[in-house]
Amino acid sequence: MSKSHSVWVSRPLFPEVLAHLAQYVHVHAETEDRKHSSAELREKLAAVDGAIVALSDRIDGNVIAGNQRLRVVSNLAVGYNNFDVPALTAAGILATNTPDVLNETTADYAWALLLAAARRVSSAERWLRAGHWRGGMRFDDWLGVDVHGKTLGILGMGRIGQAIARRACGFGMPVLYHNRSRLPQTVEHDCCATWVEKSELLKRADHLMLVLPYSAQNHHAIGAAELALMKSTAVLVNIARGGIVDDAALAVALREGRVAAAGLDVFEGEPAVHPALRELDNAVLSPHIASASADTRRAMAQLAADNLLAALGYGPDAGHPRS
Ligand code: DGY
Repeated sequence: MSKSHSVWVSRPLFPEVLAHLAQYVHVHAETEDRKHSSAELREKLAAVDGAIVALSDRIDGNVIAGNQRLRVVSNLAVGYNNFDVPALTAAGILATNTPDVLNETTADYAWALLLAAARRVSSAERWLRAGHWRGGMRFDDWLGVDVHGKTLGILGMGRIGQAIARRACGFGMPVLYHNRSRLPQTVEHDCCATWVEKSELLKRADHLMLVLPYSAQNHHAIGAAELALMKSTAVLVNIARGGIVDDAALAVALREGRVAAAGLDVFEGEPAVHPALRELDNAVLSPHIASASADTRRAMAQLAADNLLAALGYGPDAGHPRS
């Protein structure tokens, strides 16, 4: 097949996914994992019909201004707060994301963070590796907080929130959730979940998971005032987006013991992490990897590639350009 479209892939990607793309289109794939400046994005996108980009590539009006060629940007993520959707829409450029394929893996990771933070797994491991384990076993040391049987609060009850909640049923945990809209009763039942106002959620939850998409309205949805409502024994987990939590305020609450611990996979201004958070032993920190299982990252890459090909007129069953 002669190839009439060119695409740019902004990050190293699985070779088999690149090979799949290359059956239909010319592929220019970056081999280095790094964030691109606006000027670089502008230049790269001007030369292609489609692009697969990552969360740290900010695709805004400035980057696509005057671009007459680009037809689609395909995000390697379900969240798309790196896209200026109105600007893309006005320019007639399709924007795609990778919903659903990461729900269960991301939910697993939210639980990994909750359990690790509640039971002090990271700090215990650091202590052990540093050679501090000399005595026997101090009975009153390394005390964490329980997770099973406690009330789990979930802020943001989309597909990932629901996958997290279903796991809570197995831990004997009632779920309180807050979302713009209430879920149907059958779904609430499957998720052991009850809708409550946000302030009630913050006050009543023994542990809190943040699973809401980032938007200007959600900026610092959890700040000093919200943290003050939480129980001092609570663990806060953020697998949603940096910027939803005021990281500086959270660091203060953690340091003062007003929140017991936190499990954080996302940060304001990542890859930078607030220095005060890095100092804290009661914060479990990871580099935005909630969806990073081998199967799920492959599925996300494949879906991003299929979205891009579909937008350029290549059917999902491959090989037959529609235009
Ligand atoms: C997403 O898909 O939005 C995640 O945050 C990235 O893995």
